[in-house]
Amino acid sequence: MTDLLDRRLLFVTGKGGVGKSTVTAALALLAAEQGKRVLLVEVDAKGNLPNLFEHPPVGFDPVAVAPGVFAMQLTTEASLREYLKLNLRIPMVGRIGPIAGIFDFVANAAPGVKEILTVGKVCWEVRESIEGRAPWDLVVVDAAATGHVIAQLDAPRTIRDLVQTGPIRNQTEWMMAILSDPAITALNVVTAPEEMPVNETIELVARARAETDVPLGAVVVNRVLPEPFTVADEPVFAAMADGPALDRLRQEAGPAVDTVLDAAALAVALRRARVPHLDALRAGVDLPLLYVPYLFVRDHGLRATRMVADALGAELGL
Ligand SMILES: Nc1ncnc2c1ncn2[C@@H]1O[C@H](COP(=O)(O)OP(=O)(O)O)[C@@H](O)[C@H]1O
Ligand SMILES: [Mg+2]
Repeated sequence: MTDLLDRRLLFVTGKGGVGKSTVTAALALLAAEQGKRVLLVEVDAKGNLPNLFEHPPVGFDPVAVAPGVFAMQLTTEASLREYLKLNLRIPMVGRIGPIAGIFDFVANAAPGVKEILTVGKVCWEVRESIEGRAPWDLVVVDAAATGHVIAQLDAPRTIRDLVQTGPIRNQTEWMMAILSDPAITALNVVTAPEEMPVNETIELVARARAETDVPLGAVVVNRVLPEPFTVADEPVFAAMADGPALDRLRQEAGPAVDTVLDAAALAVALRRARVPHLDALRAGVDLPLLYVPYLFVRDHGLRATRMVADALGAELGL
């Protein structure tokens, strides 16, 4: 797994709310700290990626949000505008005015059109950088959530099957070559040690294998509760909670002793409740699992992003 960051294109998906954006931002930061120039692509228009670097919102043009990390917000309309400019060489495409009308027509014309405008732009940045025309060593995508990501990744094939000949079909061929190359691309899934995220992850991994040629990377298990106490500590707590010992502790330290013991019991119980979900994940998915601890921080800004990046770096052996 140490080679995960040596690919050129990492997609990150996951059930909404599990920490997909946090992990995406952290992967970008980690790669930049390893000396890579990273393009971080946000696909969700309501996204919060720049917040995770304590940076104001960004647009379609990449903006540096941390040393080595350039973020952009990918909207399908901006992507179509760029595509028309580059490929059709329509003079002064900026002046054809509101593109929204055309866009709605094109985007609703067939399944996969909206998606290919997203994945096409991403693949284009990768191809440009491989061929030395764009500066990125790595493109990291905060992709669609689990329910929609397959359609997103499979859009080139959908379009190819729809369009039999001509330039559009040729466009799909190189995209599919990038998306299916395990030396270039990996789809990663963020999950949490809870029932629904684990089920969705197992299902998604199976669907990605069955329905796409996109290689799978790692599963990031986010919000894993720390293990402050191990089985070996339990007799110690048992002895502390025992009558005479507890009385002595209360005399020395006051009622806070009970709070501490309650907190310890709660930590152990919470962690235990998550064990079956982690077991189900390990049994249901044969991909490397990278664990990220639950962060007890108030603000999820740059400091939290860096903490997640450090955890991922440790898991990757960096
Ligand atoms: N490791 C973590 N520990 C604690 N809270 C986390 C962790 N990762 C993410 N969060 C919090 O969970 C919420 C959802 O995270 P976010 O990355 O926006 O998820 P998604 O992109 O999947 O919707 C945010 O409030 C975020 O701060
Ligand atoms: Mg998000």
